[in-house]
Amino acid sequence: MSAQQFRYLFTPIQVGPFTMKNRIMVAPHGPLMGKEGLCDEEFTYYEIEKAKGGAGWVSMSVGYTEPRDIIFQRPNAGHFDKHKWLWKKEIIPGFKRVTEGVHEYGARCSFQIYSATLGNKRGPSAIPCGAFADQMWEPVTKDDIKRFLEYHAICCENLMESGFDGVDIHDHSGLLSDLLSGTMNRRTDEYGGSLENRVRLTMEVIDLTRKVIGNEKTIGYTLVVDDLLPGSIVPEEGIQLAKWLDEDKKVDYMICGIGREVQSMHMYFGPLYLPPAWQLAHVEQVKEVVKNIPIIAVGRFNDPMIAESAIAEGKADIVSMARPLIADPELPNKAREGRLDDIRPCMGCNFCIFYMYQGQPIRCQANPTVGMEELGWGIGSIKNAPAKKKVVVIGGGPAGMECARVAGLKGHDVTLYEKADELGGQALLAEKLPGREELGGLIRWQKLQLPQAGVKVVTGTEATSQMVLDMKPDAVVIATGATWMRNGFNGGSFLEVPGWQQDNVFSVDEIVSGTANIGKKAFVWDSRGDVIASGIAEILADKGCEVELATPYPNLGSLNLLMDCTYMHIMPRLLNKGVVVSPETFIVMLVEKTVTALNIHTMATREITDVDTVVLVTGKDSVDNLYNELEGKVTELYKIGEARNPHNMGSANRDGHFIGMLI
Ligand SMILES: Cc1cc2nc3c(=O)[nH]c(=O)nc-3n(C[C@H](O)[C@H](O)[C@H](O)COP(=O)(O)OP(=O)(O)OC[C@H]3O[C@@H](n4cnc5c(N)ncnc54)[C@H](O)[C@@H]3O)c2cc1C
Ligand SMILES: Cc1cc2nc3c(=O)[nH]c(=O)nc-3n(C[C@H](O)[C@H](O)[C@H](O)COP(=O)(O)O)c2cc1C
Ligand code: SF4
Repeated sequence: MSAQQFRYLFTPIQVGPFTMKNRIMVAPHGPLMGKEGLCDEEFTYYEIEKAKGGAGWVSMSVGYTEPRDIIFQRPNAGHFDKHKWLWKKEIIPGFKRVTEGVHEYGARCSFQIYSATLGNKRGPSAIPCGAFADQMWEPVTKDDIKRFLEYHAICCENLMESGFDGVDIHDHSGLLSDLLSGTMNRRTDEYGGSLENRVRLTMEVIDLTRKVIGNEKTIGYTLVVDDLLPGSIVPEEGIQLAKWLDEDKKVDYMICGIGREVQSMHMYFGPLYLPPAWQLAHVEQVKEVVKNIPIIAVGRFNDPMIAESAIAEGKADIVSMARPLIADPELPNKAREGRLDDIRPCMGCNFCIFYMYQGQPIRCQANPTVGMEELGWGIGSIKNAPAKKKVVVIGGGPAGMECARVAGLKGHDVTLYEKADELGGQALLAEKLPGREELGGLIRWQKLQLPQAGVKVVTGTEATSQMVLDMKPDAVVIATGATWMRNGFNGGSFLEVPGWQQDNVFSVDEIVSGTANIGKKAFVWDSRGDVIASGIAEILADKGCEVELATPYPNLGSLNLLMDCTYMHIMPRLLNKGVVVSPETFIVMLVEKTVTALNIHTMATREITDVDTVVLVTGKDSVDNLYNELEGKVTELYKIGEARNPHNMGSANRDGHFIGMLI
């Protein structure tokens, strides 16, 4: 399928005074790149890359409105420093480079202003304060509002001077959104009570924005159709607000979605447990009532065909994408050229979100070049190597495939050896965990890319050091991955679990691949704090086992699963399947069918009897024997991915890309 076949996605559309060249907008997202509130090279190259990849509009974020937003810094102060301080004149030169870069590729751009609750201390009313509910908000005063509006005007001026085509107004969190909420806003003045009153400040902000930027620029609004909290922002209100904004053409477009940061952010940053386009039904409701301005859908449009049908079916006018364009900023160009197989899919794993909530610049499990664009890793960066080398890559998991792909594209003579009959490594198991099928997206893409990169693939062959030496390669890359420990060696006790040698103990891969002899009662112990143990528990429960899933952390997955917004999806899955989750539990020993566990606070032990299936989800051992055997015997020898350091798919992928670029 090419641009001609995409009847709608590449048809220009009028957005305010501008003709947008296609219907793909980069959804506003803060990549946490920048320093002291200003642009840095990482941010600049990152944003321009999106225009280079063909998006018609690049909406950027996050912009704070006034100094108070950053004065009361929170422990995760990284957020404040890396987001943009829009009131500062000093931001203009850096922004100009960004907007000029974006315009060079024929795209339009806007920047989103966030009303950060005046330092996360103030809200509509004295209610417990969002993510920091130990504290009550101080209700904003009229003076606060006056000052906030004055700063908002300055921010708009700065954005205009920076060359942006428009201003976006954020409403999934922050003061405007909190005022809008029927439950958070308990005011009795003109900003509280009726919907008209609750949206008053939003309307004032929009009117002021128009006054400052004029009609030759755009205002975009992120409309929350439903924030999924009872009585807070309910669909009738979201839709009524959309009607008001449309009737008077107050804004030039609306990006419509659901959820509120932080209370229902798992539905806002929906991970792979939700289907693609999960918010579309809500968007459609808005589209039905809005007559004058484009309605923009958002939410896991990681396949351009799904985007095309949303527009074709009249459910949206434009589709905006954050994560799909993080995973592959070239998605628009590739779709336009009909190269659908070349699009590296977003897997919905939410690692980018995890980085964001850590206050770190975002990185992507699928796209190793995110944040590396300034170092020359971006679109079109893979060039022919000065001299062709004979490269042998051992191991066809994500690391080996990425390395072979990049080295092949550089013109090297690359052979990739994989001992299994199928490429993919552990990712073939990762995609088998219930609800996580999309995790196979990266390896499927890599497999499709290898022939294009001219890589010779030999499967079903276990490479030996002698075999490698006989080939007389110039460079050898060991990407032999890691094996799952069965012994329960963990970072809590730094010991194996006594009794691990028993026949009723199984490793992760044995459970997922189906080779384990599963019984009726299972005990799963997780010391990793990631998604894997929950998947194991689900597999066992699906097979009819009575399952207890224990972890030393205060909750399953510790902070990790909260920060990547998967926890709220995983827990109902487990509980609905009858899995008993036991936090703050350490495993002591296994004696035949009895597991002894202890509570990490009281040290009280308990015995779980008749357990015929035990899975210790702990560490992995690197498979690096080939590397050790070849050390000193070949000129260029590299160890990548889990063969170097067992971690995750993203770091394996990045290792592969890096060494591929280096060879
Ligand atoms: C059940 C499960 C769930 C997971 N979930 C996630 C997740 O949600 N997110 C995430 O980021 N990661 C996840 N992972 C981990 C992720 O799959 C790994 O981090 C990643 O696959 C590591 O890539 P790699 O290429 O370094 O090694 P591997 O994927 O282990 O690949 C190594 C390859 O080398 C081959 N090989 C070994 N020795 C030889 C030899 N001598 N000759 C030829 N071939 C050889 C192996 O057969 C294997 O195919 C999961 C893993 C599992 C098992
Ligand atoms: C790393 C990251 C940061 C985000 N930051 C913002 C933001 O600052 N403002 C905003 O309105 N939405 C933000 N979003 C939400 C996206 O705009 C979008 O609504 C959401 O990710 C779902 O769309 P997607 O599936 O295309 O990613 C962010 C998303 C991501 C992935
Ligand atoms: S980290 Fe995962 S969810 Fe985020 S863009 Fe990359 S593949 Fe998609």
